[in-house]
Amino acid sequence: MAVRICRLLLLFWLFSGQVLQILCLTIGINYGQIANNLPPPTRVAGLLQSLNISRVKLYDADQNVLSAFLNTNIEFIIGIGNENVSTMTDSTKAQVWLQQHVQPYIPHTRITCITIGNEVFTSNDTVLKSNLLPAMQSVYQALVALGLDKQVNVTTAHSLDILGNSYPPSSGSFRQDLAEYIHPLLNFHSMTKSPFLVNAYPYFAYKANPNTVSLEYVLFQPNSGITDPNTNLNYDNMLYAQIDSVYTAIQGMGHTDIDVRISETGWPSKGDPDEVGATPDNAAMYNGNLLRRIAMNQGTPLKPSVPIDIYVFALFNEDLKPGSTSERNYGLFYPDGTPVYNIGLHGYLRPMSSSCKLMANPLEILNSEVR
Ligand SMILES: *[C@@H]1O[C@H](CO)[C@@H](O)[C@H](O)[C@H]1NC(C)=O
Ligand SMILES: *[C@@H]1O[C@H](CO)[C@@H](O)[C@H](O)[C@H]1NC(C)=O
Ligand SMILES: *[C@@H]1O[C@H](CO)[C@@H](O)[C@H](O)[C@H]1NC(C)=O
Ligand SMILES: *[C@@H]1O[C@H](CO)[C@@H](O)[C@H](O)[C@H]1NC(C)=O
Repeated sequence: MAVRICRLLLLFWLFSGQVLQILCLTIGINYGQIANNLPPPTRVAGLLQSLNISRVKLYDADQNVLSAFLNTNIEFIIGIGNENVSTMTDSTKAQVWLQQHVQPYIPHTRITCITIGNEVFTSNDTVLKSNLLPAMQSVYQALVALGLDKQVNVTTAHSLDILGNSYPPSSGSFRQDLAEYIHPLLNFHSMTKSPFLVNAYPYFAYKANPNTVSLEYVLFQPNSGITDPNTNLNYDNMLYAQIDSVYTAIQGMGHTDIDVRISETGWPSKGDPDEVGATPDNAAMYNGNLLRRIAMNQGTPLKPSVPIDIYVFALFNEDLKPGSTSERNYGLFYPDGTPVYNIGLHGYLRPMSSSCKLMANPLEILNSEVR
């Protein structure tokens, strides 16, 4: 029902030639803060509201951010960092943490999900890997004790490298050595009805093999796509193929009842000389085309009726991130609020006191040709 109303609105929006409310643009964004030059959270709240971005993912439970977003109606995924996963295996500590960091904000800040750890299974820390599920269970039990389990999901975000096989999508499977962890984790998701989150970057595949991976295919540009020989489903972009290989891997472990969501995806606008493809044009195409698909409520070939659910990485360029140049250049915005490239997202970083005028132009997101 909701989907149908959205489609109708979208059609009206496409053909009316007017700026209509973006009721359906449920894009999420990762609000990373590994930087020393970001605007204060109160101004970021204004920026996101002017962009009509209604879902934000944090890597921690930053009290300054959660306080600044009180009563904004923006929905939050908050996180427990890998360094705190082992603490959370203690259910008393988990409950204390929830009482301090989650409960006080509900319902004025909509915290709907907690990620325990990030890309834990591709770390080399076996203690961390073993602690992940117990920590998730303990946080879940603490939510139950506080009566919050129906409004807050407990999950974790994976690297796509947990797949042993991802091509074709119908052959997707998890790495053999991770099966002992993933099997009980899937039972947890199934039991608690929480989503399976994956950080997926077609950019990495392109960077590794620019001569064999088609740029059109990774950037959602028109191309003939790839047909899965087992299902005959045609994939016109790599991200959808990646999502469907995760669904297949989960099915291979006996579950058909778990939602797959993309907790991170993005494209860097700048990189080192060996980081092929990291340009503003490519980043604009990837993110611009992705936003258009999200606005269309598109599903993947395997799950056409389940709209893709995606958090773009990231809101800002983060100047203190270690590693290669691309790591510091995934942002849609510079810290001063100006867009790094034009995909029609014109937000407005207002001065702290003055009132806010809406600057987002939803039509541009759909109609602008991203060259
Ligand atoms: C932003 O989205 C909300 C609901 O998601 C809607 O009520 C509001 O009118 C939208 N505003 C614009 C300008 O699109
Ligand atoms: C998480 O770990 C950091 C660093 O060890 C520590 O300062 C912080 O208090 C921990 N937070 C929780 C909730 O345990
Ligand atoms: C884990 O160890 C392997 C082999 O020693 C190494 O190639 C890989 O980069 C390491 N991964 C991480 C996340 O440290
Ligand atoms: C929790 O996750 C499930 C499965 O993806 C979803 O249907 C539900 O809406 C989520 N709950 C909240 C509060 O977001």
